Amino acid sequence: MTLTAPPPIPRAAGSLPFLGHALHLVRDNLGFIASLRRAYGPLVEITLQPGTRTVVVQDPALIRTMLVDLGPSLDKGRFFEKMGQLLGDSVVTAAGQTHVRKRRQLQPAFTHDKIARYVDVMREEAAAAVAGWRPGRRLDVREAMVGLSLSMLARTVFSGSLDDTAFRRLRRDLSVVMNGVGARVMLPDWAERLPLPVNRRFDRARDAVRATVDRAVTELKASGHDTGDMLSMLLRAEDEETGRPLTGHQICSEILTLAVAGTETTASVLSWVLYELARDPGIEARVLAELEEVLGDRPVAFADLERLSYLNRVVTETFRLHHTGWLVTRRTATETRLGRWTLPAGTELAYCQHALHRDPELFPDPLTFDPDRWRDGPPPPGFLPFGAGRHKCIGDRFAVTELLTALATILREVRLVLDPGQTVRPVARATVRPRTLLMTVRRRTG
Ligand code: HEM
Repeated sequence: MTLTAPPPIPRAAGSLPFLGHALHLVRDNLGFIASLRRAYGPLVEITLQPGTRTVVVQDPALIRTMLVDLGPSLDKGRFFEKMGQLLGDSVVTAAGQTHVRKRRQLQPAFTHDKIARYVDVMREEAAAAVAGWRPGRRLDVREAMVGLSLSMLARTVFSGSLDDTAFRRLRRDLSVVMNGVGARVMLPDWAERLPLPVNRRFDRARDAVRATVDRAVTELKASGHDTGDMLSMLLRAEDEETGRPLTGHQICSEILTLAVAGTETTASVLSWVLYELARDPGIEARVLAELEEVLGDRPVAFADLERLSYLNRVVTETFRLHHTGWLVTRRTATETRLGRWTLPAGTELAYCQHALHRDPELFPDPLTFDPDRWRDGPPPPGFLPFGAGRHKCIGDRFAVTELLTALATILREVRLVLDPGQTVRPVARATVRPRTLLMTVRRRTG
């Protein structure tokens, strides 16, 4: 039997010397990546860093192979390398056995019991946020959701040991850094070494973020207080290799990783849910009817969450249509076989959840927001809201719990109304989020 050689991997048109595809990406990164899906087959090569191949994997089965079967042998690649400039070494940047060890240290913070305990804190934070929105006020919803996500996370991670000023500073600096990470993925490496204000701003914000988290870690450590939160858990953890407690630096990296991985993502999904509900009064009415039926006047509790089946479908449909991931990367450490192709060591791999979840072959009528598409049957193989394999999101249940708790709390108190004629566009930085989303607050009556 003779095996036919696979077709060569096509190169996407439009690469320029020194810049690769940076211009296309800077102009419209989501549009560019989506256009690759339409124009090329299962694999296509783009240039992010001149001299390095980045193969975008477009076929759902090959994406799964990359994440699950090849997961243990691949490095994390460009996106996570840029994240590492902020985070240092942490669970999200590590690969191989180091990753396994780091993940084991964090896992106890995400058990079913722990998450059930976090719900009260999440609800309190959501209620406090809503209480601060005056009726008639025009709310920058994305900003408000970043604030809310960060406070939900900060209270579960640090038990609120950040004071108000530190908290506000962290929020501002994190957003500078997250935008910077997004830009650095797209631009060739030489661009970040230029003495530009934008690079200086990134460096300053990165140092400030680390300093804020460092201080919180040092204070809690000095107090010797076990607050039962994630930070206390990490303070008790041991490095499996050395048998010693984790250093302040290691703990800071892990905490920062949770803040980065768990803030913009949750905030974007919350924003998009509020946007979609405001656009479709029929869907919003069904959500409210379900909340009334399941909760009556009671505040939401952990046991209620799985009974909110329609709201769960709304959230799932938001993960589909408005996924926050636009370029998740890996890198081959040795020559690697992916489907019929053999890739040399050092090949960058990437996939785009946002584009995958809008593929008409996987999701009929993909641009329509339709929670009922999740009523029957298992999700199609290309639906990967939290990734797959050994790097699958550690915070998946935490995130869904936050989303449902926050929505069940917000939606019964206020109605958020879209400005007429407002076009809300997605923009991809470190994550995909609404560029701006302004909505007016109205109290729910009766
Ligand atoms: C809507 C919310 C969220 C979405 C859509 C999301 C999505 C993802 C995805 C797709 C990955 C896999 C990346 C890869 O393949 O390399 C991931 C990893 C990760 N996520 Fe999330 N995430 C969310 C919320 C959270 C939250 C709330 C936390 C923490 C509190 C968190 C912590 C992490 C961590 C630590 C990893 C790295 C896991 C590893 O490499 O072992 N995420 N997330």
